[in-house]
Amino acid sequence: MSTLSLPSGSKMLSDDFLYGVATASFQIEGGINNRLPCIWDTFCNTPGKVADSSTGEVACDHFSNWKQDIELIDSLGVDAYRLSISWPRVISKSGELNAEGIIFYLDILNELQRRKIKAFVTLYHWDLPQHIEDNGGWLNRETAYLFAHYADKISRAFSGKVHAYATLNEPFCSAFLGYEVGVHAPGIIGKEYGKKAAHHLLLAHGLAMAVLKKNSPNTLNGIVLNFTPCYPETEASADVIAAAFADDYFNQWYIKPLFDREYPAIMSQLPADNHPEVHEGDMEIIAHEMDFLGVNFYTRAIYRADEDEQFLQIDPPEPRTDIGWEIYPKAFTELLVSLNEKYMLPPVYITENGAAMADKLVDGVVNDNDRIDYYHNHLNAVNDAIEQGVQINGYFAWSLMDNFEWAEGYLKRFGIVYVDYETQERIVKSSGLAYKNLITNRK
Ligand code: FCB
Repeated sequence: MSTLSLPSGSKMLSDDFLYGVATASFQIEGGINNRLPCIWDTFCNTPGKVADSSTGEVACDHFSNWKQDIELIDSLGVDAYRLSISWPRVISKSGELNAEGIIFYLDILNELQRRKIKAFVTLYHWDLPQHIEDNGGWLNRETAYLFAHYADKISRAFSGKVHAYATLNEPFCSAFLGYEVGVHAPGIIGKEYGKKAAHHLLLAHGLAMAVLKKNSPNTLNGIVLNFTPCYPETEASADVIAAAFADDYFNQWYIKPLFDREYPAIMSQLPADNHPEVHEGDMEIIAHEMDFLGVNFYTRAIYRADEDEQFLQIDPPEPRTDIGWEIYPKAFTELLVSLNEKYMLPPVYITENGAAMADKLVDGVVNDNDRIDYYHNHLNAVNDAIEQGVQINGYFAWSLMDNFEWAEGYLKRFGIVYVDYETQERIVKSSGLAYKNLITNRK
């Protein structure tokens, strides 16, 4: 069996470096009759949107199995668990707390606390209540204020039980995939929508940051962003320019406003009707000081110049994971170092990193050595970034267990624990055992 190791003396082997596992509400919970519908329910029920035509109706049935799942998390020896709250489970249509939903999460938070596992709570991991979408969703500025109201209610209800709050998970995915190319819920397509949705998401983040700072001054409050670093196909200047443009469009667009109070300069190259609607004072709200930045990394992308579009993404080279993403850990180090150079970052947590692999359950065992290699190389890439001066305080594996992988349905497995969807049995994969070994031997 492959193992996970880090150079001796690494900060990542010290007790105060946090290791965790991550999940998200819609991807694992099921229990859809105990909450309001969300945009992913609607999207799943629209033919042709999800690869295997599946839904979140049952998923990992974490709604019923949450207690065993926390026991499982504890058995992996982790310090922290990153979960998300389903907005449509906890807030009614009139904006009041829904007691049943609150109790569900309080039970989870209490159990984590009892086991001394730190809760990293994400308030929005893409499951927007459908009734809010019916009113324009993230294209409606009002949604940002509804989100701040939700953050207010939750941070009061969960007082003293949360270690860290992330306002949003990956606003790029919500905005671009959901409102520009339409491959994620709510499935809206149009270049004129993406940046408008992005602005309202970032505004929601900033408004919620002020609320969290007030209600929950002792938690770490921040955001989780995803980055797919952009590399030019060749050193030709046209390709270099194309990759830089893509980087601003997909990556910097979501981080620059948080630290520099402005959008990337490529705004001037975008048609006017693609621009966000920025009101006076918005950029100050968005740039609220944060306690941490969550960074999600899986892969890089390679671009070449294109005459019509500003950039063209080319097919990724091998090696790739089962979802087709190139395995290129060096980009992880380069990303972290470059973010640290560009921005005055607060401490960073790697809030997601992991790989989909074509797992086989054989005689009750999943020998996912390819995933162990992925983790080994990416953990060491994080270590390299720390050695180059980036302050990184923790790392979360995506994911605790196989789950509903959005537009891919249940076809792609990202877990370090295997889920048998027929029986809901959980089987720790070799990668889960290797992760546990790394964490527990460090102590
Ligand atoms: C990220 C999402 C997460 C999961 C991984 C594979 O973009 O945040 O929910 O689907 O990708």
